[in-house]
Amino acid sequence: MKAKITLLPGDGIGPEIVRAARQVLDTVASKFGHEFIYDEQLIGGIAIDETGSPLPDATLASFEDTQAILLGAVGGPKWDDPKAKVRPEQGLLGMRKHLGLFANLRPVKMVPGLEGASPLKPERTQGVDLLFVRELVGGIYFGPRGREVRDGKRTGFDTMVYDESEVRRIVELAVRIARGRRKHVTSIDKANVLDAMRVWREVATEVAAENPDVTIEHQLVDSAAMLLVTNPAKFDVIVAGNMFGDILSDEGAVLTGSLGLLPSASLREDSLGVYEPIHGSAPDIAGKGVANPLGQILSAAMLLRHSLGLETEAAAIEAAVHKAIADGLRTRDLGGGDASLGTNAMADAVCERIEAA
Ligand code: NAD
Ligand code: IPM
Ligand code: MN
Repeated sequence: MKAKITLLPGDGIGPEIVRAARQVLDTVASKFGHEFIYDEQLIGGIAIDETGSPLPDATLASFEDTQAILLGAVGGPKWDDPKAKVRPEQGLLGMRKHLGLFANLRPVKMVPGLEGASPLKPERTQGVDLLFVRELVGGIYFGPRGREVRDGKRTGFDTMVYDESEVRRIVELAVRIARGRRKHVTSIDKANVLDAMRVWREVATEVAAENPDVTIEHQLVDSAAMLLVTNPAKFDVIVAGNMFGDILSDEGAVLTGSLGLLPSASLREDSLGVYEPIHGSAPDIAGKGVANPLGQILSAAMLLRHSLGLETEAAAIEAAVHKAIADGLRTRDLGGGDASLGTNAMADAVCERIEAA
């Protein structure tokens, strides 16, 4: 097949790991006889530097006829002034909203061979195979907000707002996905305190009643954070609002051994999606060639699966990543020590295993 893919390397380690993922996509294309046409565009801090906007018009124009978007990461200390009018993160949030990508899927699955890489005891992480379904275009990220002086004091405010249709579409999606898995959904809220979260729980309860073949449990976010490290294997699908899903998924990443491993897909009703690792631009290691590219590479696999319908090719990438790990290859974040592979060497290792399969 012939497909257009928009590449948004962004900031920090973004360009390094997107280059690695592109190499993997090229290997898949030549092995399976596809043609991927890349359109590289700006987003985030580099876009602010070059155009003044974190989401320039040319980037938006690329979305018009693209089939999928592969994003690295945005942000960094250069653009971190709390008083700045524009921030790199606005590009990412603006893109999600503009494209209506309401569902962010973040799978957390133990990779065989990495049991020792997590700070948790292997007996706790054994059998972990869960999926975060994070609401991505609502909640406190997008409610009324601002900065003003109140009673002579600098004041900032953000508002968590969810209406029933926003809750329903994400919980229903979680239920549909759970139906193909272990038929269990944990709905995260803070219904003991927040009105927006009471609407969330009410609607999730209604969706549960309409779908008796899938079990929906409710869990308050604070105790969910605890259960995620004490009994993570109990979770199947975890559905959460925008902010709680953001926080819990970084915690969930620790189960697998490294934040650098986890991919994500941001989806809507049709096949267009944005694919990005769940981590950020990792300014502390940017430019050093040591970033783990596997989260980005696994995001490219999700792209092939969800936006292009190429299941065999997606599975080939995942198998090659697992083989590289099984063969003992490690980047620094995975505890590779002195024998650690850099970003490019890990990408080469994955490509060799795709070719050899
Ligand atoms: P981060 O995820 O960038 O880094 C957290 C820690 O994990 C760092 O020590 C980093 O070195 C390490 N790490 C992350 N990815 C890694 C990888 N692939 N390989 C090896 N180590 C890796 O989080 P942060 O430092 O809190 O945020 C840095 C910047 O990234 C901020 O500007 C933030 O807004 C932005 N951010 C962007 C995204 C995104 O673009 N999707 C996501 C999260 C954070
Ligand atoms: C993520 C990031 C973003 C978020 C930031 C950079 C806007 O943390 O994708 O997880 O909070 O959604
Ligand atoms: Mn995050």
